[in-house]
Amino acid sequence: MEKVREAANTSELLVEKRGAVAILTLHRPQVLNALSDSLLREVTSEMEQLDQDPGVRVMVLTGGDKVFAAGADIKGMAEASSAQMQISDRLANWERIRKISKPIIAAVSGYALGGGCELAMSCDLIVASEKAVFGQPEILIGVMPGAGGTQRLTRAIGKYRAMEFILTGSRFTAQQGMEWGLINRVVPPELLMEEAMALAEEIASKPPLAVRLAKEAVSWAQDVELGEGLLKERQHFYKLFDTEDQKEGMRAFLEKRKPNFKGK
Ligand code: CAA
Repeated sequence: MEKVREAANTSELLVEKRGAVAILTLHRPQVLNALSDSLLREVTSEMEQLDQDPGVRVMVLTGGDKVFAAGADIKGMAEASSAQMQISDRLANWERIRKISKPIIAAVSGYALGGGCELAMSCDLIVASEKAVFGQPEILIGVMPGAGGTQRLTRAIGKYRAMEFILTGSRFTAQQGMEWGLINRVVPPELLMEEAMALAEEIASKPPLAVRLAKEAVSWAQDVELGEGLLKERQHFYKLFDTEDQKEGMRAFLEKRKPNFKGK
């Protein structure tokens, strides 16, 4: 395993590379990985750099055993005014994460609450340990989700369930999340990274341009009206016929051999 760097001189975010997979680990254990402005900025800018790195095809975002992330840093915003919150526009980072073109897998153990749950839901797939606990407890501290929770949780698990969790601040388990369609896989805690890496490596072995356009197209299913989504999907599909990987993939199938994808 190659440890690429400790992101931008902080030890709150660790970045490692294993083959074509980059692993980002939130590491602020003293406050349960609370997402301060600076940690969130690190996560965003590291993801943007890795998105440009041709050696990286998939990212895995994880936290610790006890906690993925316990939400936005309450200390950092407890006394803020509405104007200060808007001027600092801390939530703008989330829009940048949404624009990352490579697949991101959240590997979640322990608490994924508030902004932590929203961060997991900003990823494209979620692998969770049996010990993972999800929720949007903002209502308990006088606010509401502000980084996508009302939209993403509702789209993933349905209006009535999401309404209950967001209005009561109660939590749900990884197993429940999987049954409701939010979580891809639930595994024993000791197998979390193994499972997330296996999924990441499988996706990393696929033609990167097709993966990238397919990720974007799947996201449209939630973001745009069906007719527009279908039209955009078709355009992406046609685009892939300009790539060497499409020729290689189809020729390899016909020649009954394994394809050698180059990301071109
Ligand atoms: N922000 C800042 N500090 C936090 C924090 C947070 N979100 N979550 C935990 N901490 C700190 C605690 O203050 C505590 O610090 P001290 O040791 O200095 O007292 C330390 O982390 C350990 O926390 P606990 O003692 O509370 O640990 P616990 O095991 O008893 O409980 C927990 C764990 C249930 C996750 C509990 O810490 C908790 O409820 N945290 C807050 C969760 C929350 O409300 N998140 C939503 C934040 S708002 C948000 O995210 C807005 C948005 O949509 C963007």
